[in-house]
Amino acid sequence: MPPPAPDLVRRFQRRLLAWYERHGRDLPWRRTRHPYRVLVSEIMLQQTQVDRVVPKYREFLRRYPTLASLAAAPVDEVRRLWYPLGYNIRPVRLHAIARETFARYGGRLPDSAETLRSLPGVGRYTAGAILAFAYGRDTAVLDTNVRRVVGRVFLGPRGLARVRGENAFWELAEALVPRGRGYDFNQALMDFGATWCTPRRPKCALCSMKSFCRSYGTLAQGTNGRA
Ligand code: ADE
Repeated sequence: MPPPAPDLVRRFQRRLLAWYERHGRDLPWRRTRHPYRVLVSEIMLQQTQVDRVVPKYREFLRRYPTLASLAAAPVDEVRRLWYPLGYNIRPVRLHAIARETFARYGGRLPDSAETLRSLPGVGRYTAGAILAFAYGRDTAVLDTNVRRVVGRVFLGPRGLARVRGENAFWELAEALVPRGRGYDFNQALMDFGATWCTPRRPKCALCSMKSFCRSYGTLAQGTNGRA
């Protein structure tokens, strides 16, 4: 798949960042760049909606304010605190990450994609999120929301039908990250996918990308999508 045209990329970047300034959510993990806090938030957000994560994120950090305090805790206690978020392998993995970070990396969460991905439960997505949100790297963070947004805007229904596998989406997402703005851009994409360019009833009529979106006019509209 050829990379998107540079002027289209710039328009997308500008409009998305402008959208984020107006509509971005004020979420507790956006008030920190601390790697441990970013890690906790991203592991919690892997399978759980933002609204359910917010109170548990706060509670978890009150109980385990540092990676050291988490590493020192008994894993069963960590599991109990995690309840009822569900998908309960996550606290076990998070605890294992804390212990491994002390055993192998001097208590500092690694800052390379390869090393991060060797940690329990850390895949391409979570490694990207830690690099972008904790270490300020201009790297892609592709989750299902981001995949939908970039697929709709840059590929459209016909392009999407031709894509095989995830790699094309990662390459596309990498090509879009503006230099020096990786943090805001990736947070913006997530919010835009979660609240605007939603799976059903996206707000296309209100969208500032409609002039160049390859899916504009092809998606069913919700009443909230009418200006
Ligand atoms: N889902 C996964 N990571 C997120 C983040 N940082 N903000 C909002 N939703 C998310």
